[in-house]
Amino acid sequence: MTTHTPPGRARILTGDTPTGQLHLGHLVGSLESRVASQDEFDCYFLIANMHAYTTRADKPQGIRESTLEIVKDWLAVGIDPQRSTFVLQTEVPAIAELTWFFAMLLPFNRVMRNPTLKTEIDDKGLGDTYSFGFPMYAVGQCADILAFRPQLIPVGEDQVAHIEMCREAARRFNQVYCGVDPHAEDSEHEALGGVFPIPAAKVGRIGRLVGTDGKQKMSKSLNNAIFLTDTLKQIKKKMGQLYTGRQTMDEPGDIDNALFEYVRAFIRDETRVKELEQKYAAGDNIGDGHIKVEVAQAIDELIAPIREKRAELAGEAGDKVVLEILREHAAKANAVAEETLARAKAAMKLDFFGRELRFPG
Ligand code: TRP
Repeated sequence: MTTHTPPGRARILTGDTPTGQLHLGHLVGSLESRVASQDEFDCYFLIANMHAYTTRADKPQGIRESTLEIVKDWLAVGIDPQRSTFVLQTEVPAIAELTWFFAMLLPFNRVMRNPTLKTEIDDKGLGDTYSFGFPMYAVGQCADILAFRPQLIPVGEDQVAHIEMCREAARRFNQVYCGVDPHAEDSEHEALGGVFPIPAAKVGRIGRLVGTDGKQKMSKSLNNAIFLTDTLKQIKKKMGQLYTGRQTMDEPGDIDNALFEYVRAFIRDETRVKELEQKYAAGDNIGDGHIKVEVAQAIDELIAPIREKRAELAGEAGDKVVLEILREHAAKANAVAEETLARAKAAMKLDFFGRELRFPG
């Protein structure tokens, strides 16, 4: 099967690991830019459900539920299954096969030096008992991306290290198996016969949103996240926990603190943002508590329509809608990934017999 990319429409791919519901960090770091990309780009959005097993192999039911929840979040924020392709990772066998190929082109120590893996080991308290598959997911992510030969990968800042490794894997493959000169420019690889483009990361409006602890990156596992399903009451409560260290309303405040990250991220009226910044910096009778409520209301306004759409997809009826989309899209996703795999195998002298996948309805 061949794939039909309308000429001139660049392809993008990005994805989420189903470890729980999506939160505000995902929204401003990636989801918003995905929604906006749909007109301009040929979009692929991947649910990395295999990756969830690398740290939660004993929780298959939870992973399955999170998988469907994530797709519901996507639909609720406005990712449109008519225009974009949803990729359920475990239904695309070419990804697992490509993972092996890339695993043999990346030095072991290179993978283990990946700073994002290191941070995750610390944050999730994985110690030294994590599975063999855990660091392997970073190699798998190269395959997730390259299976679809995208030009761009919209991600949060924490993913940039993975994308860098993906670029190395692509260059290496093209050099070793396609005769691309090691000094070739990244942009020339495909024209010079490389199977893979060298894709670039594109960091969203806010590359890293601080959590409601005011310190670390927003993350479900750090318990400092505001979820897309939270109510105004829950948002207010979580914002209330954000500690700035400021004591009184007339103490000059630091407008680079975590609270003001939220002000700039979520209050869309620029004049109001400037006014708050001035008053806060001057200690002009403005309390943290007041600002937190204003931010909470702005967040609520932003996510209210998302919450509403998500409620429509609740329960088993919603699950059915999601599964039907995923099934249809599995065929589309595999058409592209199988073509990539066939080209990669040919370059590797592994083009023995060919194959066709079937997706019975
Ligand atoms: N590792 C990413 C995360 O946890 C999810 C992911 C998996 C991904 N495969 C990808 C992101 C490919 C971009 C491209 O957020």
